[in-house]
Amino acid sequence: MHVPAPLQCRQARVVRLLSQVHTSLPSVAVVGGTGEQGRGLALRWSAAGYDVTIGSRASARARAEVEKLNRLHSNISLSSDDNKGAARGADIIVLTVPFKFQLSTVEDIATCLDGKILVDVTVPLVPPKVARVQLPEAGSAVVNVQRILGENVRVVSAFQNVSAHHLNDLDHKIKCDVLVCGDDVEARQETIKLVAAAGLRGIHGGPLVNSVAAEALTSVLIGINRRYKIPGAGIIITGLSDGSEIE
Ligand SMILES: NC(=O)c1ccc[n+]([C@@H]2O[C@H](COP(=O)([O-])OP(=O)(O)OC[C@H]3O[C@@H](n4cnc5c(N)ncnc54)[C@H](OP(=O)(O)O)[C@@H]3O)[C@@H](O)[C@H]2O)c1
Repeated sequence: MHVPAPLQCRQARVVRLLSQVHTSLPSVAVVGGTGEQGRGLALRWSAAGYDVTIGSRASARARAEVEKLNRLHSNISLSSDDNKGAARGADIIVLTVPFKFQLSTVEDIATCLDGKILVDVTVPLVPPKVARVQLPEAGSAVVNVQRILGENVRVVSAFQNVSAHHLNDLDHKIKCDVLVCGDDVEARQETIKLVAAAGLRGIHGGPLVNSVAAEALTSVLIGINRRYKIPGAGIIITGLSDGSEIE
């Protein structure tokens, strides 16, 4: 069941909806958005004026989370639903669940994804050795998602190398690039807009199969975090001369 935001949030949303008439921002569902990574992304997109719904296996859990976040942040207006409801109502669906539940969650929401873009944030971490690269036999984890969903869903991979710690701190200007991989260039471009809305720089990383590089890199970054006692190492691509260099 879709749960609407409270009154002041609805008013804020009306203003945003009016602005969206001009900017036509897509609506976004964050499946597994009650977790660290999904919450950080949802917060940033909502603050940027996107219509964002947090999804959970349990709609009550999503509702409790959204009520808390809408109370905490005056510039946020999130909605809540169960994962399927959230996916059904959105233009772009972002998958933020642990690797172990990636494919079962995709199967669960598959009927709500037809013709849409699915942005997969999953990193194939295998606890307890998460600072060690342990890729699935097929290589990239996200390639299996595209295989399950078929060509009617444009699957894009992004955000593997950005730490939830930084995403959840809305005042933190994150110095990290996001490699965006996918076989459909237009879907990649749409995702790069979402990356920018979250305050990061998105960079075309090529076809979906190239996501293996971003997926593997996360374990290296986790190891760096531990070794240097920092909350969120990231990556920056140098050499770009189109004005998109990070200062
Ligand atoms: N955390 C980071 O810094 C970070 C950075 C880059 C990439 N990532 C990737 O982003 C994804 C999410 O990370 P996270 O740290 O946010 O994970 P998380 O907090 O452990 O879990 C995210 C959500 O997944 C859902 N979930 C838990 N068990 C599930 C199950 N059996 N079936 C379906 N859904 C289940 C839960 O939502 P409900 O219980 O509400 O359904 C939970 O809130 C992971 O693949 C991770 O590798 C994380």
